[in-house]
Amino acid sequence: MRWLLSLALATFTAAYVQQDGSTCTLYPESLNNDGQAIDDAPSIHKAFDLCGHNGQVIFAANHTFNINTVMNTTNLVNCDVILRGELRWSTDISYWLSHSYSVVFQDQSTAWLFGGENVTFRSEEGGWYNGNGQAWYTQNQNRSNQPGRPISITFYNSTNLVVDGLNITQPQFWATFVSYSKNVSITNLYVNATSNDQWGTVNTDGYDSWNSDTLLVENAVIVNQDDCIAVKGNTTNLMVRNVTCYGNYGMAIGSVGQYPATPDYVTNVTFENIKCHDCQEAALIKTWQGENDDGSSNGDSGGGGSGVVKNIVFRDFEINNVALPIQISQCIYSESTSTCNTSKMAIEDITWSNIKGTSRYNIASSIYCSDVHPCPGLKFDNIEIQSVNRTLGLPMWNTNLQDEVYQCTNIVNGQGIPCNHAAPSNYGQTVTSNVQGTDASTEKSKTTGAGNKKGKQEKLGLKQ
Ligand SMILES: *[C@@H]1O[C@H](CO)[C@@H](O)[C@H](O)[C@H]1NC(C)=O
Ligand SMILES: *[C@@H]1O[C@H](CO)[C@@H](O)[C@H](O)[C@H]1NC(C)=O
Ligand SMILES: *[C@@H]1O[C@H](CO)[C@@H](O)[C@H](O)[C@H]1NC(C)=O
Ligand SMILES: *[C@@H]1O[C@H](CO)[C@@H](O)[C@H](O)[C@H]1NC(C)=O
Ligand SMILES: *[C@@H]1O[C@H](CO)[C@@H](O)[C@H](O)[C@H]1NC(C)=O
Ligand SMILES: *[C@@H]1O[C@H](CO)[C@@H](O)[C@H](O)[C@H]1NC(C)=O
Ligand SMILES: *[C@@H]1O[C@H](CO)[C@@H](O)[C@H](O)[C@H]1NC(C)=O
Ligand SMILES: *[C@@H]1O[C@H](CO)[C@@H](O)[C@H](O)[C@H]1NC(C)=O
Ligand SMILES: *[C@@H]1O[C@H](CO)[C@@H](O)[C@H](O)[C@H]1NC(C)=O
Ligand SMILES: *[C@@H]1O[C@H](CO)[C@@H](O)[C@H](O)[C@H]1NC(C)=O
Ligand SMILES: *[C@@H]1O[C@H](CO)[C@@H](O)[C@H](O)[C@H]1NC(C)=O
Ligand SMILES: *[C@@H]1O[C@H](CO)[C@@H](O)[C@H](O)[C@H]1NC(C)=O
Repeated sequence: MRWLLSLALATFTAAYVQQDGSTCTLYPESLNNDGQAIDDAPSIHKAFDLCGHNGQVIFAANHTFNINTVMNTTNLVNCDVILRGELRWSTDISYWLSHSYSVVFQDQSTAWLFGGENVTFRSEEGGWYNGNGQAWYTQNQNRSNQPGRPISITFYNSTNLVVDGLNITQPQFWATFVSYSKNVSITNLYVNATSNDQWGTVNTDGYDSWNSDTLLVENAVIVNQDDCIAVKGNTTNLMVRNVTCYGNYGMAIGSVGQYPATPDYVTNVTFENIKCHDCQEAALIKTWQGENDDGSSNGDSGGGGSGVVKNIVFRDFEINNVALPIQISQCIYSESTSTCNTSKMAIEDITWSNIKGTSRYNIASSIYCSDVHPCPGLKFDNIEIQSVNRTLGLPMWNTNLQDEVYQCTNIVNGQGIPCNHAAPSNYGQTVTSNVQGTDASTEKSKTTGAGNKKGKQEKLGLKQ
């Protein structure tokens, strides 16, 4: 076998790319370098140069490809990619922090830009993406949105792209991001960001979309510590179905409204047949406040952006021990409650249907719409949520509210929403205790949301 490979190398200039007509098969450099983790990115680029147009690129089975430098395999045309081996991403943190490609959005960046027209990317025979994320989780020390920490793979400028069977284990940051694309299907996606030390896997979103249309996510399993699916600005006509989430923030629209210069329009998004186990949230919409908090570009600051979130359906959810199952927040990363009531994002025509299961605390939903944009067209249909303790016949502790709480503020002609308390404007994403209070009319002036923002605890204001 080895002499065959060498012959191929001698015949074709690209190291470790075996070309047979329009098919390029990749083998790792380590084979001929005593197993050393020599960078395979140059031969991978070569394979895409040779076979990326009207061809096929195959990563050979049972091999480990070491990826030590950024990859840009875009502008492919009529190309089928088959990942059989392991892609093992290097842990040279300082290299990646300074070399990852910008994805423009939030000044985030990526380790791999991938895309083109009429492209398929299939994983077979155990092929997987090993992000080696533990090194990132440990050095990141629970910080939010560390600049330069790379998204595992970004599907960019793509039309008619099918990604099937992708397995991203320990992603460096967000696992997948779809941007500036049309007609992208991601099926049988598996993402598992699990840390094996005391640090969390902060910001390991399973799937994010932005500036893209006609999208599908189907049959996914996602274990992580941020959004399971996050739908950012200018995502239209997205279907998400049959997704199982563990320990994360569930199905999220947003955050949106971060940048005044680029309004966010999100329309026609359906999430169906979703399971959430031990999640923080399950079905939510999150917008920034209406005032810009400062000029820095990191993902954690901004606000003041406008736009519309419209025609969103969350249906057929099975939830199990979810801290805050349903939420609209119009002030998700606010620094002070004084600006919480200012969001410029319009939210309308949102349906939650067939959401069944258990909440961790005594709260099922918190829907807060700003005075600037009260929300019309909100509908609950067949929502059956009980606290875990209620199902066990145990009392809810440290509260006199034993019944499920549905917080609402500024809903216009809502249908079927059993509002029994006011939603505080600064109610955050990370609920860690039962809701307190006896009287809905006093609820709004309490600091119920204090201390439960995601990743920004230190900046919370006190009262509104
Ligand atoms: C890869 O390994 C599996 C399990 O050992 C084996 O069944 C399969 O034939 C191998 N594939 C190749 C191309 O060597
Ligand atoms: C990626 O490669 C394409 C050529 O295929 C090039 O046009 C583009 O500028 C590159 N992108 C980056 C971020 O380097
Ligand atoms: C991509 O596929 C579509 C539909 O089959 C076809 O119309 C289009 O010409 C293809 N694009 C290219 C660049 O071949
Ligand atoms: C985006 O893809 C199109 C082909 O679909 C190509 O013509 C264009 O150059 C690409 N843009 C960038 C910035 O790579
Ligand atoms: C979307 O892409 C798929 C797979 O390439 C293709 O079969 C389908 O025709 C495309 N749909 C549209 C509307 O172009
Ligand atoms: C993903 O890859 C890892 C590492 O090979 C493996 O342990 C896991 O079973 C794979 N998961 C799926 C769903 O293929
Ligand atoms: C995720 O990975 C962890 C650590 O390897 C493992 O214990 C867990 O079973 C995996 N979860 C799923 C749903 O595959
Ligand atoms: C970091 O986050 C993890 C997961 O949320 C948590 O268990 C751990 O206590 C946090 N560590 C510190 C020092 O805050
Ligand atoms: C749902 O997705 C899971 C995980 O990918 C898969 O095993 C299962 O077959 C899918 N169910 C249906 C009905 O397609
Ligand atoms: C969304 O699209 C509109 C044009 O329809 C554009 O003005 C706006 O800047 C885009 N927003 C983002 C976040 O790119
Ligand atoms: C949303 O879906 C409706 C009904 O299918 C369609 O008429 C409308 O054009 C879609 N909106 C966008 C922005 O694609
Ligand atoms: C549920 O009941 C257990 C046992 O009484 C108690 O320790 C726990 O705090 C309760 N949980 C909540 C959310 O009140």
